[in-house]
Amino acid sequence: MNTILIKDGLLVESDRSWRADLLIEGEKIARIASHIKLDEVPPDTTVVPADGLCVMPGLIDAHTHYHLISRGTVTADSFAEGSKLAAFGGITTVIDFADHDKTRPLVQSAQDRIAAMSAGMAIDFALHQGVYGIPKALVSELKELKEHGVTTIKIFTTYKNVGYLIEKEGLRELFSACKKLSLMVSVHCEDDELIEQTNQQHTGTYTPADHPLLRPSEAEYRAIMDIGKLAKEFDMPFYIVHLSSARGLDAVRELRSQGVSLIVETTPHYLLLDSSFLERDDGPLYIMTPPLRSVEDKLTLQDALVAKEIQVVATDHCSFTKAQKLASDDCRLTFPGIPGTEELLPLIHTFAVASSRMSLSHMVRLLSTAPAKAFGLYPQKGSLRVGSDADIVIFDPEHLWTLSAETLHSEAGYTPYEGFGVAGKAIMTYARGRLIMGDDVYLGTPGEGQFLRAGVPQVYRGFR
Ligand code: URP
Ligand code: ZN
Ligand code: ZN
Repeated sequence: MNTILIKDGLLVESDRSWRADLLIEGEKIARIASHIKLDEVPPDTTVVPADGLCVMPGLIDAHTHYHLISRGTVTADSFAEGSKLAAFGGITTVIDFADHDKTRPLVQSAQDRIAAMSAGMAIDFALHQGVYGIPKALVSELKELKEHGVTTIKIFTTYKNVGYLIEKEGLRELFSACKKLSLMVSVHCEDDELIEQTNQQHTGTYTPADHPLLRPSEAEYRAIMDIGKLAKEFDMPFYIVHLSSARGLDAVRELRSQGVSLIVETTPHYLLLDSSFLERDDGPLYIMTPPLRSVEDKLTLQDALVAKEIQVVATDHCSFTKAQKLASDDCRLTFPGIPGTEELLPLIHTFAVASSRMSLSHMVRLLSTAPAKAFGLYPQKGSLRVGSDADIVIFDPEHLWTLSAETLHSEAGYTPYEGFGVAGKAIMTYARGRLIMGDDVYLGTPGEGQFLRAGVPQVYRGFR
């Protein structure tokens, strides 16, 4: 059996960090102790010196769209490419999305996506199942989904024009069924009616800089409040994907003050970019939904992250090539979405930890432990416990470098963070005991990633 001894690193868990040695046997973490002597391990053990480095549980990007087929095209990074970006970024698990083919049972949409991902992924993955309409046999379809290891469903409160929006009565039925089955409902929150109204009243241009006007933050506020009302009625938690604005955060605060339990995710782009990027000549490269907001919004979200009002940072990686993005500068037509998986760790480490705004443990909670708990993967993932999967990132917090299309690996051919100086780099990434990235060399193999059958989201058992 493959044994690896990581020596003298700073082990970082979500609630503490300490200097210790960590032994991997096969696919699992086998032992953690302050000193593991070489005569205690098999002679062919690989010894990895980690003095001065952080040893963290592999990160989880809980929001990716690899190989997304949308509006007659497909995104630049498919499963093999996404896995490579993940390995370079210290990410060992992603949670991706299955679209809902309304002509077939939900589980078949999930199974198709799992089969495609199983063939291409080099790291483990779980799935959120999109629900864009209410099937006749809703409860039994959701039950079947759960039995197959998919315990989150994803809904939209917008995109009526492409058939994603579920009307009020349908939503009630869905919430009731998800409560019964302890499934997590995750929601893209933008109020479709307000967006429609705003569009009808709009008399200006449709440049990238107009995008935030057409999808105002008030729409995020309204959608969160509406979903929150339902969640309150059914006394159940929900998960907000990609919170983008201070108004959205107002809604989160109002709902929490009413006792609603919700988990909030934001992304690096809402924390670190703002609408001024849309004014540049290459503004279409920065279009996603919800749109980038004001500097005040960005700073408010940063504070909320530090204050633990936001529980998860994930990327919403949805990469189109430069050519795809720049094909139109009409913001209604530009393919929405940007790359981000590989940039996640260095960006959050730089902005939050290197600046002394949060501890390494807090960062690990946001990027690994909290998504593992929220989506029923803990403690197999998200932890450095004995018995957990040996998904480990060895991270050099002192490594200074510059994010650039030249230094990163997305097939998009650009990074929205071009020229950002960052502190911290993953230097070795292990996925279930296999070294998949070391010293800037990718060693992953498509097909080695496994589908993770998710358990009950921990929020149903008191999220901490
Ligand atoms: O613009 C984005 N975010 N594209 C991905 C799909 C979504 O809405 O999350
Ligand atoms: Zn979304
Ligand atoms: Zn998304």
